[in-house]
Amino acid sequence: YADPTFSATLIAWQQQHGRHTLPWQNTRDAYLIWLSEIMLQQTQVSAVLGYYARFLERFPTLRSLAGAPVEDVMAQWSGLGYYTRARNLHQCARRVVAEYDGVFPSDPALLAELPGIGRSTAAAISAFSSGTRAAIMDGNVKRVFARVFGIDAYPGEKKVEQAMWLRAEALLPEQGVESYTQGLMDMGATLCTRSSPDCARCPMRPRCVAHATGRTKELPVRKPK
Ligand code: ADE
Repeated sequence: YADPTFSATLIAWQQQHGRHTLPWQNTRDAYLIWLSEIMLQQTQVSAVLGYYARFLERFPTLRSLAGAPVEDVMAQWSGLGYYTRARNLHQCARRVVAEYDGVFPSDPALLAELPGIGRSTAAAISAFSSGTRAAIMDGNVKRVFARVFGIDAYPGEKKVEQAMWLRAEALLPEQGVESYTQGLMDMGATLCTRSSPDCARCPMRPRCVAHATGRTKELPVRKPK
């Protein structure tokens, strides 16, 4: 693995300064984790919190969700947006019940074959629910990597994204992938934000290429026109 001090630094920061009390944390229940990760696709934590609680009141278990009419699922999702997520959620619940007897597989490759679960979401679910070493890669992670490592190419480009996936896998810690993964998410959401990064509080500042070269504003590289 590329650099064990990267993950060690991130894990230490997460344990001190990261988020620990979100309603989908402190559980290994894959249903609770999966639901949160689907809601958090394209949607901020603050917008998800109320929907998450109400959804679980109506559908407390995977089987209750799988057995419900899709209209009821859509009604609970109403207002959250990106409604394909709700249809896929319902389909996914039905498939996990039918194909896995109601138990989510822990292998991220199997998770990624289910509706609405891409490679990154599969990795997050398996890391949080079973400690499986798998790399996430979303917009926040791309921004953190582009800055810390000074990646000077548009991350929407296939080759660039592929290189970032390889780097993400190489950086995974041997132990503590849950804290590590949550730390990446928390850093991207709370410190290494797009328009006003809080470098003063950043544990990566001593090693951040963007900070050292004054290019925080230019990285990640924006979509070329
Ligand atoms: N965004 C996606 N997954 C998340 C998580 N587990 N916690 C906070 N924000 C997230």
